[in-house]
Amino acid sequence: MIEVAVTGKGGIGKTTLSGTLACLLSRTYKVFAIDADPDMNLAASLGIHTPITPISSMRELIKDRTGAEPGSSYGEVFKINPRISDLPESLSIKYDDKGNLRLLVMGTVDKGGEGCVCPASVLLKALMRHIILKKDEIIIMDMEAGIEHLGRRTAEAVDLMIILVEPGLKSLETAYRIKKLAGDIGVTRIVCVVNKVSNLEEEAFVVKKLEKMELEVIGSIPRDEMVVKSDMEGKPLLDYPQSRALKSIEKIAKKYFKQ
Ligand SMILES: Nc1ncnc2c1ncn2[C@@H]1O[C@H](COP(=O)(O)OP(=O)(O)OP(=O)(O)O)[C@@H](O)[C@H]1O
Ligand SMILES: [Mg+2]
Repeated sequence: MIEVAVTGKGGIGKTTLSGTLACLLSRTYKVFAIDADPDMNLAASLGIHTPITPISSMRELIKDRTGAEPGSSYGEVFKINPRISDLPESLSIKYDDKGNLRLLVMGTVDKGGEGCVCPASVLLKALMRHIILKKDEIIIMDMEAGIEHLGRRTAEAVDLMIILVEPGLKSLETAYRIKKLAGDIGVTRIVCVVNKVSNLEEEAFVVKKLEKMELEVIGSIPRDEMVVKSDMEGKPLLDYPQSRALKSIEKIAKKYFKQ
């Protein structure tokens, strides 16, 4: 069982990588793809375009399981260990026929900042803990852009953090800050993937900078118009077998997740 969080600067390719990895890994493992970005669009990268109610907006469920109205906080009595064992299955959207890939859309939580114990966040955290207990499963979490989520500790149970970078100093600076904060909250394994690479010089530039930051690079993904096409057509990248980006992500999946 491994929980993977995909992070990095805004627009770097987190949702594309999360969605594609989730599809690829579901050939071998049971995968929960978790949309942990309040600006939810992981479903779209899987080719799902029907509206999905995020768990944080399920008022009845939150009330039923925690005993408190969503939005209530300190002073309110609610169960901090809600019953959730049935939820990962019942709340997730089955993506494939075999049910090896399931999507969970979290929604917005933790508005109260670090240490917030609002009912919605209690429920979501309990849910995450429960999924983590099972074997032969992989969680792929599509995180919010930047580093704010780390300050709020939504990534604290993560085994592997993939930081996406691109040729350019801005995403490298974000990566450096993410590395530091992830280390502070106890994420032990932090690696990088370089995305949107146009040529060898660009790749060498980023790899050299990452080496200086002592960040391991586990792969690079070319800039590929098929990724843009898949986004325009609203289909998963797996539907474009010619995509060079897809081939690179397959390589990462094979090497790193023993596909
Ligand atoms: N390898 C690539 N080649 C070309 N375009 C790419 C590549 N990877 C991502 N893109 C494009 O970059 C844009 C952002 O990608 P994506 O939505 O996956 O990033 P994100 O990090 O999840 O963004 P956000 O921070 O907004 O959540 C999309 O238009 C996508 O098509
Ligand atoms: Mg995204």
